[in-house]
Amino acid sequence: MFRIATANIFMIWKTSGSPKTPLSINTLSIAAATESPMKTNTTQTGANGVGHKGIISAVATALLDIFSEQNRLPPLEPGKRIDGKVCLITGANSGLGKAVAIDLARRGGHVIMVCRNDTPTAREEIIRDSGSTRIEMMRADLSDLESVSYLCDQLRARNVKLDIAVLNAGLMPLNARKSAQGHELMFAVHFLANRLMLARWLADGVIPQDRSGLNIPRVVFVSSEAHQSSAPIDFNHFAKFHDYGLKDGMKYYGLSKLHLSTFACELNRQLNESAPPKVAVHHLCPGPIASNIARESPPYIKPILSPIMKLLFRSPEKAAEPVIYLACADAMGLRSGVYLHMMKEKHPSPLAVDATNGKLLWEKSAVLLESHLPSNPRKMECL
Ligand SMILES: NC(=O)c1ccc[n+]([C@@H]2O[C@H](COP(=O)([O-])OP(=O)(O)OC[C@H]3O[C@@H](n4cnc5c(N)ncnc54)[C@H](OP(=O)(O)O)[C@@H]3O)[C@@H](O)[C@H]2O)c1
Repeated sequence: MFRIATANIFMIWKTSGSPKTPLSINTLSIAAATESPMKTNTTQTGANGVGHKGIISAVATALLDIFSEQNRLPPLEPGKRIDGKVCLITGANSGLGKAVAIDLARRGGHVIMVCRNDTPTAREEIIRDSGSTRIEMMRADLSDLESVSYLCDQLRARNVKLDIAVLNAGLMPLNARKSAQGHELMFAVHFLANRLMLARWLADGVIPQDRSGLNIPRVVFVSSEAHQSSAPIDFNHFAKFHDYGLKDGMKYYGLSKLHLSTFACELNRQLNESAPPKVAVHHLCPGPIASNIARESPPYIKPILSPIMKLLFRSPEKAAEPVIYLACADAMGLRSGVYLHMMKEKHPSPLAVDATNGKLLWEKSAVLLESHLPSNPRKMECL
């Protein structure tokens, strides 16, 4: 009990990290990491492999990671503009997504906020903070494949051509819940929705594949270092719903982000067999953010957690830096498959990079999404 309570006060997202950058603090439960029936490889995760057994070492290394300047990428060119570029951001009404929306709008981007709640407040705030009115909002509940499909229909009908897509929406539920189609909620939002959107956007030309040089579209997935310490995806029981409670939330969070990062690596392989890339596909962990991600944490934790997050975690504006870098830096438009942990380029988990895993994930999710994917066989080639 004490262990769980302590763990939840710190709400740390365990990651493997590397000897250089071992771990990031996040806002979720580390509780009973060793007690779950799911086997995790938190202490030896391949390329990045040093894990942490205690909260103190986890917090210490996370703080070192935040403040260390070692291996940092150079900052984005000062005053970088993206005038007229069409930028779609999921989960743009809160936290990181909102900060990214403001930044891209300030740089001259035409911002499409994709939010499950289309109350105008967030849009008005982004207009106010960015000084731009080229901001629109589209509604989609990314946990519901019908809603995702409807969003895709609308984008196709409007002939939208995306230059930058930031797939950011995310959540950490208190316990296991099912989506409209019966999938685990984080699996549905972090992976399945993105899998479907990318398939549709590529098939529908919403993400054009006929551009070159610095004009190629960019896709940026917001993953998490938590993917590095996840157990492997169980392809024999793919997408099986598991009931879990508070203490195992982090494991399923990490697993859902492993799905996402594996998908990012596979999408990059599928699209960019040869250089130069047709679409730049990147993924990242933004590091610990003082955001609303812990909104479901129990009421007795919140009064302690909120100040800790404000004190130790980065502001959404600061956390947005690597997202903006991947979306806007010239160098990132000429490469694909980059993974950043904050502003450091790293290797994603070897499980995510593994081509066999990528292919299996691609094929099994295609079966799962069969009724939602485009039926035109010619178009299916790029799926
Ligand atoms: N916070 C951290 O320390 C941290 C660390 C590493 C990675 N990340 C990742 O960063 C991303 C942004 O998180 P954040 O920290 O900015 O949290 P946040 O403030 O809670 O923002 C999450 C956003 O995702 C949206 N969202 C959740 N479920 C959705 C659904 N079913 N349909 C549509 N939108 C949905 C939320 O919409 P509502 O407001 O309507 O719920 C919100 O706009 C997530 O992918 C998260 O996993 C966060």
